[in-house]
Amino acid sequence: MPTRATAHAVGRVVRLQPDMANVLAAFPDAVVVVGSDDSVCYVNPAAETFFAAGAPVLCSAKITDLMPPDSPVMAVLGQVRRTGASVSEEEVEIENPRIGTHAVTLQAAPVADYGGTVVLTLHERSIAQKIDRQLVHRGAARSVTAMAAMLAHEVRNPLSGIRGAAQLLEGSAASSKDRELTRLICEETDRICKLVDRMEVFSDERPLERAAVNIHQVLEHVRLVAQNGFARNIRFEERYDPSLPPVFGNRDQLVQVFLNLVKNAAEAAPDPDGEIVISTAYRHGIRLAVPGSEARLKLPLVVGIQDNGAGIPEDIRPHLFDPFVTTKVNGTGLGLALVAKIIGDHGGVIEFDSQPRRTVFRVMLPIHEGGATE
Ligand SMILES: Nc1ncnc2c1ncn2[C@@H]1O[C@H](COP(=O)(O)OP(=O)(O)OP(=O)(O)O)[C@@H](O)[C@H]1O
Ligand SMILES: [Mg+2]
Repeated sequence: MPTRATAHAVGRVVRLQPDMANVLAAFPDAVVVVGSDDSVCYVNPAAETFFAAGAPVLCSAKITDLMPPDSPVMAVLGQVRRTGASVSEEEVEIENPRIGTHAVTLQAAPVADYGGTVVLTLHERSIAQKIDRQLVHRGAARSVTAMAAMLAHEVRNPLSGIRGAAQLLEGSAASSKDRELTRLICEETDRICKLVDRMEVFSDERPLERAAVNIHQVLEHVRLVAQNGFARNIRFEERYDPSLPPVFGNRDQLVQVFLNLVKNAAEAAPDPDGEIVISTAYRHGIRLAVPGSEARLKLPLVVGIQDNGAGIPEDIRPHLFDPFVTTKVNGTGLGLALVAKIIGDHGGVIEFDSQPRRTVFRVMLPIHEGGATE
């Protein structure tokens, strides 16, 4: 990339006028210039990141190599060439096997004097918007808080009374049929107790006890628990970045997070041939502003839990992290709400990408600049 810059004087102030390529290199959105024969003529670094390939590879490809012919991008491209006017579309899905599915705002504009050449910009939902969504999830978790506290108070005591009475009855039950019924009462009250225990976590407002946690030890523990229990028939693959620094977090709560995600993955995976990929990576350069504070957070640690199940049903996606959203007969719909709360308490973000045979939940965890003192 040339670094040519010209200087020109305005009054006594000397202004630098950078080269256009430098401007485009600094531009955060992906920019792709497509020639009249659909060849890719130019990509900026953000486009290289977006398509997970370098400029030489992308610029020797056609736009049809980067996305399927029925992609909405191709329709927009055709429209711009026909009308000569710019087009902007929200929530356009860009799909390709290497990058998965990304929803972007697509802008397409004709390049003057170059007939048929179109410049595309792809604007992905920003991390700030992801954080916003995360905050919405936190709000949802908060709305459960009051109910959880009430349930813990009002339901636990009568339940233990019912259980105690059923146990007494069991001792004096005459027939095996009666004993079966009293056992049923005990089992069902235990089930309600477990649900109440799970909900109580939402009302726990104590500050998080955090320390340096080796995320690989957490994931290893989760995998062992899963493989010896609910995920016995599933093949696990681990793609770990061994050089990952420790997470600043609460070990037990992180175990809970990944146990919930792996359990969902195992429940979604096909039987036989179920597969779960657990991955970790260090991502440089992602910093985000915290709403209402001067602080900058880094979210460089990314943990992925991927399964080869049928994917998340379209209709529940917008509410996935809300409590009580479930498609399972015996599900409570509290798993992901709990995950969102804990990740939120850690100052992290959770995201998902889902398509048939490839659903991945990505947890991004922070390292605070101030280390363990914050
Ligand atoms: N990996 C996944 N693949 C497909 N669907 C998923 C996946 N993870 C979650 N879901 C969907 O999201 C819903 C909510 O998940 P969540 O963990 O909150 O509750 P649940 O699993 O239904 O119940 P519980 O966790 O209490 O057992 C699930 O019912 C399922 O429809
Ligand atoms: Mg679950």
